[in-house]
Amino acid sequence: MAQRGSRATEQLLVIGAGGLGREVVEAVLAANAHEPTWDVLGFLDDDAALAGTLVGGLPVLGPVEALSEYPDARILLTVGSATSPSARPRLAARLRVAEDRYATVIHPAATLAASTQVGPGSVVLAGVVTTADVEIGAHVVLMPQVLLTHDDRVGDHATLAGGVRLAGGVRVEEGAYLGAGALVREYLTIGASSVVGMGAVVITDVPAGEVWAGCPARFLRTVDAPCDRSTSRR
Ligand SMILES: CC(C)(COP(=O)(O)OP(=O)(O)OC[C@H]1O[C@@H](n2cnc3c(N)ncnc32)[C@H](O)[C@@H]1OP(=O)(O)O)[C@@H](O)C(=O)NCCC(=O)NCCS
Repeated sequence: MAQRGSRATEQLLVIGAGGLGREVVEAVLAANAHEPTWDVLGFLDDDAALAGTLVGGLPVLGPVEALSEYPDARILLTVGSATSPSARPRLAARLRVAEDRYATVIHPAATLAASTQVGPGSVVLAGVVTTADVEIGAHVVLMPQVLLTHDDRVGDHATLAGGVRLAGGVRVEEGAYLGAGALVREYLTIGASSVVGMGAVVITDVPAGEVWAGCPARFLRTVDAPCDRSTSRR
């Protein structure tokens, strides 16, 4: 296995020193072991308490603004969760760096069909499988064991947590977040900035900006609204 920072050819900064950031670093190291590619400099994170500490064995070099001190480094955005699905697009808008500055990292244990397209800034973790004619946009995160089948399209900044499975022809729009293990029936649309709960079985389209969960999946709330338990189903 490659050592951190050895024999790699391009500098890489990981923006966001949380759990996803550490998972992405592990994928980068696995990719380096396969073919030395990245010299991982460390993390940038706005959490002042992390500055100067080590996260996953790598230094937290400062806040996101410190990016200007590393003009040659490629970058990856590793923020965003079911509770803050818009964090990644907001960070990208704040940084305003050219798309070709973003790295694309694919774990060597992912199995992508030759016809798969993957956009800049996207991360594909171990065990992801794509079958035929799958399009993955920019800044997409595919966590372990995601299955994308024929003609699926995943929009920019979408996140598919571990074990999500999409039947054929599904469209996941920009910034959507699908929780762990969610299943989506063929040819449905998961709307922009929506959230699908873990374990959901989605059998109808999910409108943009809504949180859906359950089996079958139903409306829970809008993304920005707090959960009101008296009206949480329709
Ligand atoms: C769907 C989700 C976003 C809802 O979060 P929330 O708005 O905080 O919702 P709450 O936990 O307050 O629950 C609200 C209601 O929805 C139900 N609910 C929450 N998540 C659910 C799920 N995944 N499936 C079915 N019902 C769910 C709760 O039981 C509760 O029901 P009630 O009103 O009848 O009591 C969240 O539960 C979820 O699934 N997040 C994804 C987590 C994940 O996959 N993480 C991967 C990280 S790698």
